[in-house]
Amino acid sequence: MNIAQQIPGLFDRRIPKSKVPETRSEVLDSEERALLIERITYQLKVQDAVLVAHYYTDPDLQMLAEETGGHVSDSLDMARFGHETSATTVVVAGVRFMGETAKILNPEKRVLMPDLEATCSLDLGCPADEFNDFCNAHPDRTVVVYANTSAAVKARADWVVTSGIAADIIRFLANRGEKILWAPDKYLGQYLQSETGVDMVLWQGACVVHEEFKGKELMAMRAEYPDAKVLVHPESPPSVVSQADVVGSTTALINAVKTFDADQFIVATDKGIFYKMQKAAPDKLFLEAPTSGRSATCKSCAHCPWMAMNGLRKLADVLETGANEIILDAAIRSKAIVPITRLLDFAAARDTVVFGNNDA
Ligand code: 13P
Ligand code: SF4
Repeated sequence: MNIAQQIPGLFDRRIPKSKVPETRSEVLDSEERALLIERITYQLKVQDAVLVAHYYTDPDLQMLAEETGGHVSDSLDMARFGHETSATTVVVAGVRFMGETAKILNPEKRVLMPDLEATCSLDLGCPADEFNDFCNAHPDRTVVVYANTSAAVKARADWVVTSGIAADIIRFLANRGEKILWAPDKYLGQYLQSETGVDMVLWQGACVVHEEFKGKELMAMRAEYPDAKVLVHPESPPSVVSQADVVGSTTALINAVKTFDADQFIVATDKGIFYKMQKAAPDKLFLEAPTSGRSATCKSCAHCPWMAMNGLRKLADVLETGANEIILDAAIRSKAIVPITRLLDFAAARDTVVFGNNDA
């Protein structure tokens, strides 16, 4: 056992390729698609339900969420919307941690998901018992976890953050003199360390989708498209992040295509985001950042296999049968709500200061 392996958390926590499913998106003919959309729209209405979808899900789900009074967004805003809606059922099209977060915040609401097996490699690579050992080995550090974790891991945390707010919260904690224990994404952790200069120890997990973007191949692509701006999600490796014009959450990347005076963008995140980018800037060209080349290893290049488990058939089924409800242990929920509430309160205070938005 080497030194890193003796310290819980400091060895490689990436999940083996064998645990990553192939990305399989739903294939429908136009008649079935139209029928499913009709069934879902009807059920959402009669069941007082809203659909909240992540930007990485199928365009049909994003379109349905928008057209039925639901919401499409990043993980921070999904949590906020699920919390603020008056609907009694929240259907979360995304991955498991997003459904769990909705349930933690809204224990009185019914939270359904099209597929409860839709998880996340960061969540899988951070089991709660081992994470607990990691925290116990660093009792002097404030525990900050990414939203892409289980409810049990959140229950052990002082703060939960998303990519859209992580740097602000870490600076805030460092200004109070706190040192940070970060989990689970090592690349996001490294990015935050380099941005803020804060003392952090990092769990060594990674996102199977973002870690496949390749720095060398990106350099070659930039030479081919010299006018293109490069948009990167911070779960990507440093060799990719270092070439970015914008590094940010999914919402920040979509905003960048509206505000940048450029016609071409190379995008290093899940390609589900192209639906919203294309809507935001219909005349602009969006190119997938390279995952291929000689160093290609991905099974699910630029498309999350778990996000792809969400589809219209499963959505119609869960609404009609009530299957796939998120149920959480009450003790875990009551602990996990504390760091999530800190996140939402911090976000509301930040938005009031930055945007003068008192409704936030
Ligand atoms: P965002 O919070 O930016 O939506 O990211 C969530 C995610 O899972 C990215 O892979
Ligand atoms: Fe998790 Fe990566 Fe999928 Fe996001 S894209 S849900 S981080 S596996």
